[in-house]
Amino acid sequence: MQKLIAGNWKMNGLASSLAEIEALKGLTGQATCDIVVCPPFTLIEKAVAASKDSAILVGAQDCHAQSKGAYTGDVSAEMLAEIGARFVILGHSERRSAYREADASVAAKAATAQKSGLTSIICVGETRAERDDGTAIEVVRAQLEGSIPEGASSSNTAIAYEPVWAIGTGLIPTVEQIEEVHSAVRKVLEERIRADGRSVRILYGGSVKASNAAAIFQVPNVDGALVGGASLKASEFAGIIAAAV
Ligand code: PGA
Repeated sequence: MQKLIAGNWKMNGLASSLAEIEALKGLTGQATCDIVVCPPFTLIEKAVAASKDSAILVGAQDCHAQSKGAYTGDVSAEMLAEIGARFVILGHSERRSAYREADASVAAKAATAQKSGLTSIICVGETRAERDDGTAIEVVRAQLEGSIPEGASSSNTAIAYEPVWAIGTGLIPTVEQIEEVHSAVRKVLEERIRADGRSVRILYGGSVKASNAAAIFQVPNVDGALVGGASLKASEFAGIIAAAV
């Protein structure tokens, strides 16, 4: 399965950051994986223009569940698709915790994204306390059950397993822990969407860097990465992409 490497810029990036996309183009001409950059909303249209004639696709970091209406401050999947976004990250743990985004809301957003032709990257992952309690698998399973919409398929959905305690901390689960969760995610996907569940890409996210990417990509059922901090610098992000053979 072709790997998917997605960069989540979070609330980082001004117009000057588009130089990173220009640099990334030069560094990833030979890449054999799918590459997605998810800048803030304000840069999406410019990022689409900057990545023209390259393999780099552009995504957003969230969308609303409705396609339009009285939702001050929100942006719909349809609006994102219109300006050239192809992906949308949904249910990131920062949104689940800061905005109390529940699984049902993630599923509703993913359903709208699907209608607009966007591929959802649905994020799940346990907290430190849940990992220590031994409930990580249970938590991830429940999040998946609630967050995957009807109609999900390998062409409109990817899953990102991101242990909350590994995001931005430099901490990383053992390869055994990653393998255990990814195999549980695969099982849920096969239960939910049958044979096509085998082709849904499952990304690992949380402190992925050029120096640890190759080891992570060796783990069974790891089909790519969702990268935060290390996606902000083209040279570092390109190192991760190069490891995704
Ligand atoms: P990180 O973030 O790579 O900076 O740990 C990952 C994410 O939040 O998607």
